[in-house]
Parts: sequence; C-alpha cells; structure tokens
Amino acid sequence: MGIKISRFGKLSDGREAKLITLANKNGMTIEVTDYGATLVSVVTADKNGKYADVVLGYADVTDYAKNGGYFGATIGRCGNRIGGAAFTINGKEYQIDKNENGNSLHSGFKGYDKIIWDTQVDEENLTVTFSHHSPDMEQGFPGNFDVTVAYTLTEDNAVKITYDGKTDRDTIANMTNHSYFNLEGHDSGSILDHILWIDADGITAVDAESIPTGEILPVEGTPFDFRTEKPVGRDIEQDNEQLRMGGGYDHNFALNTDGSLKKIAQVKAPVSGRVMEVFTDCVGVQLYTGNFIEKTQIGKDGKAYDKRCGLCLETQFYPDAVNHENFASPVLKAGETYHTETIYRFS
Ligand code: BGC
Repeated sequence: MGIKISRFGKLSDGREAKLITLANKNGMTIEVTDYGATLVSVVTADKNGKYADVVLGYADVTDYAKNGGYFGATIGRCGNRIGGAAFTINGKEYQIDKNENGNSLHSGFKGYDKIIWDTQVDEENLTVTFSHHSPDMEQGFPGNFDVTVAYTLTEDNAVKITYDGKTDRDTIANMTNHSYFNLEGHDSGSILDHILWIDADGITAVDAESIPTGEILPVEGTPFDFRTEKPVGRDIEQDNEQLRMGGGYDHNFALNTDGSLKKIAQVKAPVSGRVMEVFTDCVGVQLYTGNFIEKTQIGKDGKAYDKRCGLCLETQFYPDAVNHENFASPVLKAGETYHTETIYRFS
C-alpha cells in the first residue's frame, strides 16, 4: 500500500518525466505520469485472482511523445472536436489549431496531453494531483485557466478522476481522460467481445468529419442501442451511415442524466470476468472503439497494438458543444469553478 515515485524517461528536449505508482490494500495498482497527466497502467484482478494491466499504454515517456493515440492522457482545455476549429464567446471569434480536416481535435497540436504537469502526492488518500497554469490564449483559448486533475485509487478498487478549474475570462472547459481499456489485459487483442451497457437514449449524429450535425439521434432500433448490454462487436459491421462515418463506434452518447454523479456505463470481459463500471456527472460520453489504432503503436511489454484492441469511454460535454445552442454549454464563466468527476470501478 502507498505511493512510489520513479523516473519515466526523458523527452527529446531534456525534460524528465515521473512515474507515480499507487497501490491499495487489496493489491490493485495504478501508474500515472506527469507527462500529459496520463494514466499509464491499471492492474486489477480477474475472477480467479489473476492480475493484469487493463489499459493500453507505452513503456516510457518518449513513446508517449512519439506514438500518439492519446493513450490514457488528460485532454484539455477542450476534449473532442470543434468544427472549423472556431468558436465565439461574448461576441468575439476565436480560432484554434486545425489539426484534423480543418477542425480541432483534442485542442490542437499542443494539448494538455503533451505538457509536463506539476505533481502533488497525498499518500494518506492515495491521490496524485496534477496541476497546470494554462495562460491566456494558450492553444488559442481565452483566459488564464488554472486546472487540476486528481487521480485517486480507492479502497473499493476504483480509479477516481477529479477535475477542477478556474478562469479569469470566459473560456471553454471540457476535460476528459482518454484511456483505452481492454479488460482481458492490454496485450490480449480485440475488445469486440466485451459486453457493454451505456445509459443513453441518443447519440449526437455526426457528419463525415465526425462533427455533430446538431441532431440527437435516438438509439432505438440502431447499432447504438446499448441500453440492454450486448457485445461491442455485435452490430459494429452493420450497414449504418453513422458507423461508416466513424469507422466503427466513435460517437458521443447523450447520457440519461440529471448532472449528478451516477453510473452511466459498464463493460464486462467474457473470459477474465473483469467488470468495469463507469460513473460520471458529465452529460456525454464518447465511445471510441480504437478504430484507428495501428500496429506501429508498440506499447508496454513490446506489444504491437492493433485496430480495436482497446475501447475508450471519454466522459465530457458533447463534441462541438460551444457551437450548438441545443447542447449543454462547455463555457466556463470568469470567476466560476469547473468541477467534474469520473470513476472507473473494477471488480
Ligand atoms: C476520437 C477519435 C480519435 C481518437 C484519437 C477519440 O477521442 O473520437 O476519432 O481518432 O480520439 O486517438
């Protein structure tokens, strides 16, 4: 039980990264790094007490900097896409990096996934808090944004992620975590057999560039209906326009929520029997089935990852919410506090 800090390698510019290991009294451990405030590993027991690492990740910080995919990373200031990489706040238009088809994905070329965060360790509460002072106009967003991401390993085998932030000008605050889960073990191949439940009656329909059209498409009678649990892969190859546009599931589910912290999704691994429950107070969750993972992404233990070998459940505001009046607004007002929580609990 406790917290240990070790080295996690050096970036090409000489900056060193830390690896922080948290262990609870049940034998579960997680690792996080200050590079990107990233969740590097989650080692949990299966139904027979056998431990495995259930998130995709890389062996050291240079691979995180080089190989992409946002494995386990903290995404901010605005997770997901912004159409045209442009938005207006208080009548003023802002243009941010166009890093995907003329749009912004995960806040452009230098997101929070690529910075080294300040680290604070709280041994008693098994918590690591990463903080970042994001200056006015960093990534093109208005306002000095002071943000923290805290990872707690709880005694009931959950990874609790808490985001807090404050700004001095109205800005966008939409943080998320980009972990790819494979509950059979990070090196065990496809996640298509995982059984998934998501508490959402609709998804935000997207165009060919994965930008929301504004329409909330009911999941009823579509491959997006996970209200009754089913294998992730059961309907993934169906002839469906939305699936074609995402190359599989890469869609935001409009959660049935009142904004309180509640269970919104569950994943079960059929062989190991591991279960992951997801709780959040966010209004949306992006289900991304790793459609674009490539074999050149060599992860921990030298494992060459592949398409659909991990799935993400990224809790957040809806994509491009700043540009849609019918979506809950991701704008954080000056002087107000941003606070969201997401819990991934394992059994
Ligand atoms: C997006 C995917 C994207 C991936 C990057 C996800 O959040 O929805 O479209 O390819 O991030 O790894």
